[in-house]
Amino acid sequence: MLGVDQSSERLSRAPALPGNAMLLRADMTDIWLLLQRHACRPARQYMLYPNPWPKIGQLARRWPAHPVFPVVLELGGIIECRSNWRIYVEEFALAARLIAGLEAGVENFTTGAPMTPFERKYLASGHALYRCVLNAGAASCAGGGRAMPPDRSPGPQ
Ligand SMILES: C[S@@+](CC[C@H](N)C(=O)[O-])C[C@H]1O[C@@H](n2cnc3c(N)ncnc32)[C@H](O)[C@@H]1O
Repeated sequence: MLGVDQSSERLSRAPALPGNAMLLRADMTDIWLLLQRHACRPARQYMLYPNPWPKIGQLARRWPAHPVFPVVLELGGIIECRSNWRIYVEEFALAARLIAGLEAGVENFTTGAPMTPFERKYLASGHALYRCVLNAGAASCAGGGRAMPPDRSPGPQ
């Protein structure tokens, strides 16, 4: 199990981890590209409370609109996004559908066992939480192994 954050300060406040877990300070974009280069296909991927970047003009900073997102889908496995901002999770579901034809809904979510500090904080302050869980094990990866948008060209006339 690998937990990644670019902030050493954030990693230093991580809760106790199981023995098979490792924390890494890195840019997630680099990690996804390295996994792709080495053909590593994780069984599960979690995007847990990513920075929302909610302003107009910040769309491309959100993972579902980021150029690396097709690689995330191509890596496959069960991919789960959680946020306290429903729109973020809706964008995640929409991008998965448009890029790889993966269908998954957005659901309200709660847990008695928070997985991260932000999840614990949001639950304690009564925030609604949302998640989308994709099964990308069978994502279609046309185009030299890259997840590509479905072909929307008109058929024969
Ligand atoms: C809202 S916090 C959530 C932290 C943690 N996932 C949690 O749920 O408690 C968002 C985190 O994303 C990290 N982050 C933002 N962009 C990143 C990137 N490109 N690569 C790795 N971590 C990133 C930030 O450092 C920050 O700690």
